Amino acid sequence: MAEPKENLQMEKIVSLCKRRGFVFQSSEIYGGLNGFWDYGPLGAELKRNVKELWWHAMTRQRDDVAGLEATIIMSPQIWKASGHVDTFSDPMCDCLLTKKRFRADQIEPQSGIVYHYPGARSSFTNELKQSLDNQLDAAVVFRIHDPKDREADRKAAEKSLSDLRKENDLSSWLKLQEAIVTLGSEYNVRELVETISNFCVKHGKSSNFSFAVLLAAGKPPESARKLAKEFYSQRGILEPELGEERIEKIGLDHPLATRFNPENGSLLSEPRPFNLMFKTYVGPVESEDGIAYLRPETAQAIFAQFKNVLETSRQKVPFGIAQVGKAFRNEVTPRNFTFRSREFEQMELEFFIKPDEVIEAIHGSVATLETPDPKPKTPEPQPNWGWQAWHQYWVEERVRFYEGLGLSRDTLGFHRQTPAELAHYARACTDILFKFPFSKKDEQGNVAGDELEGIAARSDFDLSQHQRFSGKPMGVFDEELRAAWAKLPKEKQDDLWKRYYDNRKNYLTKSAKPDETAEQISKQSTDDANGLARGQYIPHVIEPSAGVDRLILALIANAYSEVTETDDKGKSETRVTMKFHPRVAPFKAGIFPLLKNKPDLVAKAQAVRDLLRPWMNVFYDEGGSIGKRYARQDEAGTPFCVTIDFDTLGEKPELLDTVTIRHRDDGRQERLKISELLAFLLLKIR
Ligand code: GAP
Repeated sequence: MAEPKENLQMEKIVSLCKRRGFVFQSSEIYGGLNGFWDYGPLGAELKRNVKELWWHAMTRQRDDVAGLEATIIMSPQIWKASGHVDTFSDPMCDCLLTKKRFRADQIEPQSGIVYHYPGARSSFTNELKQSLDNQLDAAVVFRIHDPKDREADRKAAEKSLSDLRKENDLSSWLKLQEAIVTLGSEYNVRELVETISNFCVKHGKSSNFSFAVLLAAGKPPESARKLAKEFYSQRGILEPELGEERIEKIGLDHPLATRFNPENGSLLSEPRPFNLMFKTYVGPVESEDGIAYLRPETAQAIFAQFKNVLETSRQKVPFGIAQVGKAFRNEVTPRNFTFRSREFEQMELEFFIKPDEVIEAIHGSVATLETPDPKPKTPEPQPNWGWQAWHQYWVEERVRFYEGLGLSRDTLGFHRQTPAELAHYARACTDILFKFPFSKKDEQGNVAGDELEGIAARSDFDLSQHQRFSGKPMGVFDEELRAAWAKLPKEKQDDLWKRYYDNRKNYLTKSAKPDETAEQISKQSTDDANGLARGQYIPHVIEPSAGVDRLILALIANAYSEVTETDDKGKSETRVTMKFHPRVAPFKAGIFPLLKNKPDLVAKAQAVRDLLRPWMNVFYDEGGSIGKRYARQDEAGTPFCVTIDFDTLGEKPELLDTVTIRHRDDGRQERLKISELLAFLLLKIR
């Protein structure tokens, strides 16, 4: 029973987003464009705040991360190397009846009775019936009138016959034509009817395309037959006669359980891969040479620019490169408002670390963190951390970031990808989930949530791929490694060499081009492992990759709160308050003069606005009662409202130059000196 309530919650959120200018449908005046969304005045501010906070936390507040802002369109070679051209696809299938498109992997298993049909044929097509009637009319006319006088009827008969001839088997129709136009007295109408109907049954159209319908147990089979007839009609079989029906009962674990349209029970087409990249052409000629793609992730630019950033930022591994920007995916089924869009923004960090063999060579062993679960406090990074410790560190850092934006731990969830779910090059991936109103409940009523961000341990796959495809070295030189290696006992060297060799060989074998031989792979792996002694290696990567739009949606869903109040006359009113954390709130403060027709109040209020404006986004409002102004700011999520009244002007001398601050979430009010206002607000919003 929870489902409708959850949908209602989403409906309210979508409606508020439009009403208050958080999110609009893209191209709305032209009917919208599926999977594309625009951010209105409040949404634009919210988004800007979120991106700023991420950038701040990930780059400016750290010594070990540098920023990048790359182009959206890049060399198509990048997408060859990354694997996106060949493998960035979703399995797609279509409803055979309505043509509606589905992501095959998102269809929930269904049980019930499957009605199979091997095909159908036209029982007697309308066209043929019409023609037959014409023949008969003509024949009767010929029988009762002198043929010489009925030249027009003869012509009509000949014409309809020749029309039929065009559609069907020529020789049969020629015989028929002969029979009809030879107008002897022995001419027999009944014989003619029989001949024509036999012909129609034999030559009427048919389809051997098998079709099936899934019905919930207990539903009448007639509804399956109706759908099947509709299906064959759409394939040109007029008035279809269904082939022999076969019935099969299936459970949720049956291979067919995910092969039917959940909305109407029709069979779906076989799943086929659908590449999600938007294609375009660079330059004036639309040729193969000019093909380019809108980036489906921001990450690849970071890998492609790894060497440039390394050299110009004077960073050393471990360090990261951060980027925020647009990404485009031609999603098969965009859904859940902005959650799965076709144009969206990502905030990605590629954090480059030393391979475990290098850590072991330098530090003697690889440190791991004690517990696999994210802990409330992240430890300080240590030089002997291996990939597992770094991975856990970043999961925890990211959770702390979300907490700092007002998403408490109990609104979040985690999904550790199973080995079967992991990409072949990934060693681990932890998704941070948010419990959206549309997130599904399990049988116990628990909500796991949907992905907000993925933190993947991507090994050295990305840099290795770009090294191979571009021919440019992507490895780094590490003097500490070179010096440490020289001091290692031979046994240790051999052990580390072998492990590094095996990892490289494993990667090279899995990503080998068709013309690469086992000898070449073995030689390359040997060269790579020999590099350790010279202090060379290809860095590994931990990638926290977050979606801006999903985070905005999570913040909106989290902030949405309703209160219904009933007045003395029994009239009830529901008021919405968006309880955004002050850090992300679009406006930090509303500034109100008590009355708009008192120039002194207005001047003072504008002075307060001008005092705060260089530091934060504030909203000046002098229209309507104070109560109405509060309500408007509550809906916008403004955490503080500042009222300038007569006391501010010194009506009570002890309150001169003080203002009232009203707190959004509990309606509490306090009096503050204007001189203390900026510091007060800055403390709350930073
Ligand atoms: N570079 C890794 C990468 O792109 P991903 O899991 O495909 O990984 C990362 O995407 C994040 O981008 C997701 O966790 C999600 O927040 C966001 N994202 C992905 N596809 C999206 C879509 N169609 N609409 C909105 N956000 C999306």
